[in-house]
Amino acid sequence: MTQSVTLAAEALIAGKLVAFPTETVYGLGADATQDRAVAQVFAAKGRPAFNPLIVHVPSLEEAAALGEFGPKASELAKLFWPGPLTLVVPRRQGCPVSLLASAGLPSLAIRVPKHPLAQDLLKAVRRPVVAPSANPSGRISPTTAAHVKAGLGDKVSVILDGGPSAIGLESTIVGFLDGSPSLLRPGGLAREEIERVLGHALISGGDAKKPSAPGQLESHYAPKAVIRLEATAPREGEAYLAFGRVSDSPYNLSPVGDLVEAAANLFRLLHEIDASGVAAIAVAPIPHKGLGEAINDRLRRAAAPRPEESE
Ligand code: TXA
Ligand code: MG
Repeated sequence: MTQSVTLAAEALIAGKLVAFPTETVYGLGADATQDRAVAQVFAAKGRPAFNPLIVHVPSLEEAAALGEFGPKASELAKLFWPGPLTLVVPRRQGCPVSLLASAGLPSLAIRVPKHPLAQDLLKAVRRPVVAPSANPSGRISPTTAAHVKAGLGDKVSVILDGGPSAIGLESTIVGFLDGSPSLLRPGGLAREEIERVLGHALISGGDAKKPSAPGQLESHYAPKAVIRLEATAPREGEAYLAFGRVSDSPYNLSPVGDLVEAAANLFRLLHEIDASGVAAIAVAPIPHKGLGEAINDRLRRAAAPRPEESE
């Protein structure tokens, strides 16, 4: 255990915020059992309080102490944990997680991340840790420690640097609440892989307009620049975010047309284009299969009207 992990665990127990790497994106961590610490997360991110948070633990054993895992949820957990999958299950009685973390819902979103530093931290702290992506609300998710520092540097006690996130997209969220499992958020684990294990299709869940079915705000992951989707070429004044070997743009999600590589590059390239100061981004069409579903979901949110503009 490195000294920085020990310090980070102590900071969490003291109720402070710690940013840490996961294989999906960097998380803004707080002790999930302390209401005040959880509230600090919402405050630091400037996030609307009706958005419930994901609780992180080091293994299924700790997860099962917090929530009720039926046969199908257990099967997915055994196969895909640790990894880029979050399961929403009924909360156990006596579950010590702050109700603020789940926005007062009787359910809990739980994830076991794979990144070794995340694992070390969760084992050291020995408490569940809430961790939304470590970026100001509505901005691009961070996939490096430098992104975290730029967005929230003054709000966190410790930033653990574990290198660039291997997957680069948030976890896939599957809900196990009313009977059939539903896809609440596409993410770093492709829907097809989950459906293959279940032997049937996932119901599509998550409604952005209804905070009670806690999907997400329509506008999310927004860069400062405006975004135009499904663009086969840039117009004057636009930066072009390309996909495949079709363009000489310096910004290419995957020159070889690989969706896993595109996912890993997505947020980093949006950060880079934003940093260049350009006012508009045209994005190439992305195939809607495998991780393309999650990439298109994030791009659609990034392109949606911004709350401050639409109200
Ligand atoms: O990859 C990830 O999942 C990252 C890394 C840091 O682990 N974390 C992340 O957490 O994206 P967060 O807190 O931003 O995700 C919150 C989302 C909510 O917007 C909602 O869609 C879902 O998780 N969620 C949380 N609790 C829920 C619940 N009880 N019922 C339904 N959905 C829930
Ligand atoms: Mg986020």
